[in-house]
Amino acid sequence: MKILVTGGIGYIGSHTCVELLKQGMEVVVFDNLYNAKIDVVDKIKEITGKEITFYQADMRDKESMRPIFEENKIDAVIHFAGLKAVGESVEKPLLYYQNNITGTLNLCELMKEYDCKKMIFSSSATVYGAPKTVPIKEDFPLHTTNPYGTTKLMLEQILTDFCKADPDWHVILLRYFNPIGAHPTAFIGEMPNGVPQNLIPYLTQTAMGIRKELSVFGDDYDTPDGSCIRDYIYVVDLAKAHVCAMTRIMEDQTTEPVEVYNIGTGTGTSVLELINAFEKATGVKLNYKIVGRRAGDIEKVWGNVGKANKVLGWKAETPLEDVLASAWKWQCVLREKGIM
Ligand code: NAD
Ligand code: UFG
Repeated sequence: MKILVTGGIGYIGSHTCVELLKQGMEVVVFDNLYNAKIDVVDKIKEITGKEITFYQADMRDKESMRPIFEENKIDAVIHFAGLKAVGESVEKPLLYYQNNITGTLNLCELMKEYDCKKMIFSSSATVYGAPKTVPIKEDFPLHTTNPYGTTKLMLEQILTDFCKADPDWHVILLRYFNPIGAHPTAFIGEMPNGVPQNLIPYLTQTAMGIRKELSVFGDDYDTPDGSCIRDYIYVVDLAKAHVCAMTRIMEDQTTEPVEVYNIGTGTGTSVLELINAFEKATGVKLNYKIVGRRAGDIEKVWGNVGKANKVLGWKAETPLEDVLASAWKWQCVLREKGIM
């Protein structure tokens, strides 16, 4: 079985390649290196002892992807490639629509041309906007608050329309909650550009002394300790969800043309709880202060993951403290190498 992993040397893609290879699947990857380093290809090989085929291609340029389909019989695609920074998407909406939408349309056209009609798509819990209640179920109303989120929602719709028009198309939409952590080997992990916007990289950089202090955005929310709540999912557990979804789609077990699953732990953790867990897991004291709310933040987000547990046979299994220890180990490696 040959799987094409788009954006496969990025954060989630690289961890997923490792899990696919571990299950004996053949992996072909392409990436335009916009937000990834080429040495990740070797790291994936080092972790698994297996080969992958890498192409440098940009999905905005359809012809740059053609050799991948010419030279390989691709059975299915896991589609990670995309831009993902919420703030940047507000400033540069055209870039986001061009990259995420046009790029995916180009990819789908080639898939159709080369008779590959199975896709697992990286969606996001961002498509639920601010939910009225938690935990969030897959059938909750969808709405978005920024262009990044809108590209995800539009792509979910576009892929659904493909499946309606051609019964041979099968798509699984995975809506991730907040992916965190790094591979236990610390060979691969998240590598944010510039000042991190997300909690975990900012937290580990603060613990390392790269940032002076972590700002906790708000302690006056309607939550037990006043800080926001999220569903933090370990990236390796998340990667394994793709293997389960791939097995389901390849073994023709899907019962609907488009299936959708929440991928999270099913548990909410507040920012302050997360800081405590980090200190406990690593023994490192974190310098933080409470500041005002961050514009646009949603108070409470966590998923009902019963469908993924039952239908995909997948469950997040790594304890939060182990996940945070992996993030810290990765930060220490980045420091050793002088990267961050
Ligand atoms: P990432 O930036 O690490 O990986 C995305 C990869 O896609 C990068 O390696 C980048 O170079 C590549 N890419 C971008 N545009 C491309 C193009 N035009 N052609 C070829 N390659 C291109 O991000 P990630 O965190 O691994 O996210 C993977 C996917 O999961 C994305 O679609 C993202 O929107 C989605 N997602 C991420 C999160 C999260 O918090 N990390 C949450 C929900 C959904
Ligand atoms: N936070 C802080 N201080 C920081 C950074 C974050 O207190 O320096 C808090 C935020 O207020 C929030 C929580 O930590 O309560 C998590 O924030 P992140 O920025 O790490 O993640 P978000 O939940 O805001 O956003 C993430 C992804 C988005 C995606 C969204 C919904 O970054 O791409 O989840 O799935 F759209």
